[in-house]
Amino acid sequence: MTPLWTSDEVARALSPVAMSGPFEATGVTFDSRAVGPGDIFFALAGESTDGHVFVADALARGAAAAVISRDVPDAVGNVVRVADTMAALVDLGRAGRARSTARIASVTGSVGKTSTKDALRAMLSAQAPTSASTASFNNHVGVPISLARLPREARYGVFEIGMNHPGEIEPLARQVEAHVGIVTNVEPAHIGHMGSEEAIADEKACLFAGMREGAVAVLNRDNRHYERLVRHARNFGVSRIVGFGRNETADARLVACRLQDSGSDVQALIHGRRIEYRLGAAGEHWVLNSIAALAVAEALGADIVAAAASLAEVKASPGRGARRRLAFGSGTIELLDESYNANPASVRAMLAVLARTEPAPGGRRLLVLGDMRELGEQADAYHAGLAQAVAASGAARVFLCGPHMAALWHELAAAQKGVHRPDSEALAREVATALRAGDVLAIKGSLGSKMKVIVDAVLAASGGEAGL
Ligand SMILES: Nc1ncnc2c1ncn2[C@@H]1O[C@H](COP(=O)(O)OP(=O)(O)O)[C@@H](O)[C@H]1O
Ligand SMILES: [Mg+2]
Repeated sequence: MTPLWTSDEVARALSPVAMSGPFEATGVTFDSRAVGPGDIFFALAGESTDGHVFVADALARGAAAAVISRDVPDAVGNVVRVADTMAALVDLGRAGRARSTARIASVTGSVGKTSTKDALRAMLSAQAPTSASTASFNNHVGVPISLARLPREARYGVFEIGMNHPGEIEPLARQVEAHVGIVTNVEPAHIGHMGSEEAIADEKACLFAGMREGAVAVLNRDNRHYERLVRHARNFGVSRIVGFGRNETADARLVACRLQDSGSDVQALIHGRRIEYRLGAAGEHWVLNSIAALAVAEALGADIVAAAASLAEVKASPGRGARRRLAFGSGTIELLDESYNANPASVRAMLAVLARTEPAPGGRRLLVLGDMRELGEQADAYHAGLAQAVAASGAARVFLCGPHMAALWHELAAAQKGVHRPDSEALAREVATALRAGDVLAIKGSLGSKMKVIVDAVLAASGGEAGL
């Protein structure tokens, strides 16, 4: 197999101060826990620890080389000494991008980035060698590492780009140099750092900076900031705009769908061509993500009929809507695990899924919500604003935790009120003891709200996986 990187290529890309070798690398990582044989290990300065601490161990575990910026006396193996390891990672990412002949897509948006990226990975990898960002590797480290991992033989590459603060997207977009860029949507996520939805839209549009010739922008036709994004895309020199959504003028248009617990049957018109497919992930939000992904696949030059067929295999991932059936008492419970993230748009999407999920006989719908973080001064209003959607979800009891959820608590109908607690730890046991066989339980909150504590308590109280 051709190596991902040879030491000669690394030398050209990084212009190191000093270097030992030769070596051939099959992977690139900065994560000391994940480093394995053949990896290039980048010793990055983390928030709490400096990666240099792990260099000796990484080499002992078979890393092909370690990229360092200061001496590591006990290191045995190949080292690449540079002035700045973070800058060196960006250089390797750029070199990975520069040598690639793949068709490249970049994905940003307030919600649905990872879901859309993973749908694209499923579609494209069935057609040709494809490389896509791992998990949500979408920041100043995740993007260059994903580019550095792009195999030279890849025909398609899909890269997620995220932001928490203004100015973060453009430099990452310029590294990716995509042919096709998609903004899944613009919603109030991280609005605390961004100020307004318009500011979020303006930031997302920086995805279109530095794209390759003939660039295509795929935009959500149903989003209230569509026109604004079109203007930005044109200003960045994008040559073709593709709209997706329910809107009748959308180029990739959702015509009809039948939503079920286990997925959806979808009819779409993609540039006038009727496509029907089964989607393996539940919820209308997933249907729209799949239409978006089809629009991107078309723009990349993939076969859209085959791409649509691949969507049957696409499932929501753990913490992002993955469903689990757990043995419980004399029966089972169904767990909708959305513990990874939350903002108003994704909570509403989840509530719509909960409303359509039928409990087993004797069971109820139970809802657990933790604070949605980073919503700024309007945070309480965004939390209280969920009341109607919570009522419509059909939840028999609602368990809330976190200071902002107090605002929602006051809006709930008395019949739905379970308890409100300051944090997920205080709530976990109460949720677990409230459960009974037949229940459907949905758990959602921002990562910082630590809702996984409650997922774990539920798992511990259950008799384990029962299979769907
Ligand atoms: N188009 C969408 N609209 C609303 N919610 C969505 C959408 N796509 C995914 N979600 C939900 O949002 C959460 C985050 O999804 P994910 O794809 O990981 O987004 P991101 O990568 O943008 O953070 C999940 O709980 C998921 O179910
Ligand atoms: Mg993500």
